[in-house]
Amino acid sequence: MAERIRRSLEGVAVPGIGRGIVAMGLVRGIEMDGSGVKVLLASTALIPGAQRWIADRVREAVEQLDGVDRVEVEYRAAKAKELNRIGRIIAVMSGKGGVGKSLVSGLLAVALKRRGYEVGILDADITGPSIPRMFGVCLPPGGDESGILPVMSGSGIEIISINLMLPAEDTAVMWRGPLIANTIKQFGEDVLWGSLDYLIVDLPPGTADVPLTLMQSFPVTGAVVVFTPQGLVEMIVRKAVNMMADMEQRILGVVENMSYIYIPEIDRKIELFGPSRAEEIARGIGVPLLARIPIDPALAALCDGGRIEEYDGELLSLLGDRLIGELSFEA
Ligand SMILES: Nc1ncnc2c1ncn2[C@@H]1O[C@H](COP(=O)(O)OP(=O)(O)OP(=O)(O)O)[C@@H](O)[C@H]1O
Ligand SMILES: [Mg+2]
Repeated sequence: MAERIRRSLEGVAVPGIGRGIVAMGLVRGIEMDGSGVKVLLASTALIPGAQRWIADRVREAVEQLDGVDRVEVEYRAAKAKELNRIGRIIAVMSGKGGVGKSLVSGLLAVALKRRGYEVGILDADITGPSIPRMFGVCLPPGGDESGILPVMSGSGIEIISINLMLPAEDTAVMWRGPLIANTIKQFGEDVLWGSLDYLIVDLPPGTADVPLTLMQSFPVTGAVVVFTPQGLVEMIVRKAVNMMADMEQRILGVVENMSYIYIPEIDRKIELFGPSRAEEIARGIGVPLLARIPIDPALAALCDGGRIEEYDGELLSLLGDRLIGELSFEA
């Protein structure tokens, strides 16, 4: 009976994000007493109007079941962190800015979502709202003091961006440091992700303080390091890898972005920055090369237009396969 009730609750969505209350971790218990049913819900991140709306939908759904006469809904306070069930947390990082971390974060999320996984993105990149822009979302996250609700993308990827939370983008840099650290800590405690198979974290380039705060606030599974084939690439990749080693974090793999450009008219791949050394660099660190991503104007246009979820290249299935393949090595 409890299972039937639970299944009937799966169809009740959280207003504003459209994901079910079961998937969001809000159903805390089902108690039965003869033909009476009491559904215990967490009130986390739900404003009073949303609580009433959900309670009505829950009563409607459960009252329809055979053998149920009375339905009571009770809300209890709970911390978002206690309700979340996050399978794997993957940090995307680089030793240098502008190499395509946000693009790789977005593609990984899309690749995993296409495979039917529940996916979220935490955009901790303060250099600009790249992730919201790529996915065409701009609303501030919902919720209240009891918790923060992510914004939902078109294909159902949960998104939280530090840029959607901080005051104006031009807030003085000196204030941003502590503000960012506190915001990331708050994300670790207060964002209601519900159950996710994967949470992808888009890290800002350079300094170690944001990755450090992240690792302290979230149980990170490992990192994907992104680089481009320019200049001092080895040193730059090494910097990121050493930083992760200092924090005792695992590197899941590396991605070479802007590896080459394909010119269809002459059917040739041109390596603009010389022959790729991605394989060699990956071998040097002892991790797999997950992908070599070409410069693709069509992909850039989709990203600029907030339509990354429409991208459909073989790259996506490759990224998904490789990443899941690497993670399945885990004990
Ligand atoms: N393979 C690619 N093909 C075409 N355009 C790309 C490619 N990779 C990245 N870009 C474009 O280059 C720009 C920088 O990429 P992105 O924002 O992902 O880099 P980043 O490493 O996150 O940068 P930042 O350090 O500023 O956060 C974006 O406009 C993106 O659309
Ligand atoms: Mg970025």
